[in-house]
Amino acid sequence: MPVSDTVSTPLMPYQLPFPADALAEIVVPDAVPKDERLWVPQAENVWFRPLCLNRSQGYWMNFLRVRRSGILSRHRHPNAVHGWVLKGRWHYLEHDWVAEEGSYIFEPPGETHTLVVPEGVEEMITYFQVNGIMSYVDPWGRPLGYEDVFTTIEMCRSHYASVGLGAEFTNQFIR
Ligand SMILES: [Fe+2]
Repeated sequence: MPVSDTVSTPLMPYQLPFPADALAEIVVPDAVPKDERLWVPQAENVWFRPLCLNRSQGYWMNFLRVRRSGILSRHRHPNAVHGWVLKGRWHYLEHDWVAEEGSYIFEPPGETHTLVVPEGVEEMITYFQVNGIMSYVDPWGRPLGYEDVFTTIEMCRSHYASVGLGAEFTNQFIR
């Protein structure tokens, strides 16, 4: 090993190349954006803001924003979901806890639950990492539809095209 390869200082960056096949990082400076065009409408008074749409591992991360009270959805997920409440609060009809502002929530695989935003909450924003699919069901488990990273990508493409940012605006979030 040449002498120059052994020289190091505490503030020296890593000196070797990253693996040739490593993906590029994603940096989203305006994660909770002021530009309304970045919020993708999902239902009436419900939007999401994509952060990482990971088609290679089948998960997606976003901020969900809700500006109405009542039942948002009843869904089952076969994989884990992680949540972090940034604003407002919500709960599941099937559990007695409330996800308050600042709460972290782990939703284990196998849960089927009904998300409710209570009266008096003008705006709820929660960061969710969803793995696999969200399967929407009726109270008896009968399927009503689903979302996965691919339907999420399509929603983004279609919305960003419609607001003038272009369908390809979505690409920055895809890995
Ligand atoms: Fe859930």
